[in-house]
Amino acid sequence: MEHGTVTILDPSEIYRPDVNEKQFEGTDFKPSAKEIEKFRQFVEHPPEDDPQLAMIKNTYKLMHTHQTVEYVRKKHEQWCKFDRGEFTIMKALEFINTIVDESDPDTSVPNIYHAFQTAERIRERHPDKEWMILTGLIHDLGKVMAAWGEPQWSVVGDTFVVGCAVADSIVYRKTSFVDNPDLNNPAYNSKCGIYEEHCGLANVMMSWGHDEYFYRVLIENDCKLPEEGLYMIRYHSFYPWHTGGDYMHLCNNKDMEMLKWVREFNQFDLYSKSDGLPDLDALRPYYQALIDKYIPGTLKW
Ligand SMILES: [Fe+2]
Ligand SMILES: [Fe+2]
Repeated sequence: MEHGTVTILDPSEIYRPDVNEKQFEGTDFKPSAKEIEKFRQFVEHPPEDDPQLAMIKNTYKLMHTHQTVEYVRKKHEQWCKFDRGEFTIMKALEFINTIVDESDPDTSVPNIYHAFQTAERIRERHPDKEWMILTGLIHDLGKVMAAWGEPQWSVVGDTFVVGCAVADSIVYRKTSFVDNPDLNNPAYNSKCGIYEEHCGLANVMMSWGHDEYFYRVLIENDCKLPEEGLYMIRYHSFYPWHTGGDYMHLCNNKDMEMLKWVREFNQFDLYSKSDGLPDLDALRPYYQALIDKYIPGTLKW
């Protein structure tokens, strides 16, 4: 496995026009007033020359232009051969430690901290749900694709369904899809497009990114996480669904049942970058035991 520093910006974790403290109502999680205020300022009054905003917009512009049915099919073919290497979950965590989110204004906090912070936050709230704690730790491991040269718009950011009409709640929906050829293809641009109503999300093609890739890695390697955990991994960036409330016409009963778990997970994935940095050495043995229970040994990536 190649090592090197790759800077990565995950728009889905920093640009969230529709998130506010309401999202956390009924939960124990309260983002600090400073976090809420900073976020609100950024969303409501984005400075026109803000380089971070420009990068986010650019990432979404590329994603919304190039993620088509054909593109996603190609990506499945390319990445689902699992011929990139064989290594453990811990090794993959160390690997994403070389991937730094350059959108962080303070310092470069490596992605591994986001992994442990998300997991530790879940552990506080759900100490009895080992599988969910582990899900928090590993949910972003699909970002290793960035270190293997996959462009950011094909790794990070909110996901959507290709092959049918794009939903209104997608970020930059109005402006950023104008050059996507699928939107002018009558086979792909109707409400259900190439799908049957309520066919189930497992039967639709998501835009390509770290959620779907890591889900596939886990299935390929006979992971023992329960369905709830697999849904959290596969759809945590599917904001137009779990937060925007779109695409319900494609969901089946199973998806609707799982939606509450994806939403439950989502509150721990946000904002956690501003927590104190966890002591990774102290935490490792506990998490290694969880890995050994659910995803032991070496995985094919
Ligand atoms: Fe993610
Ligand atoms: Fe995350």
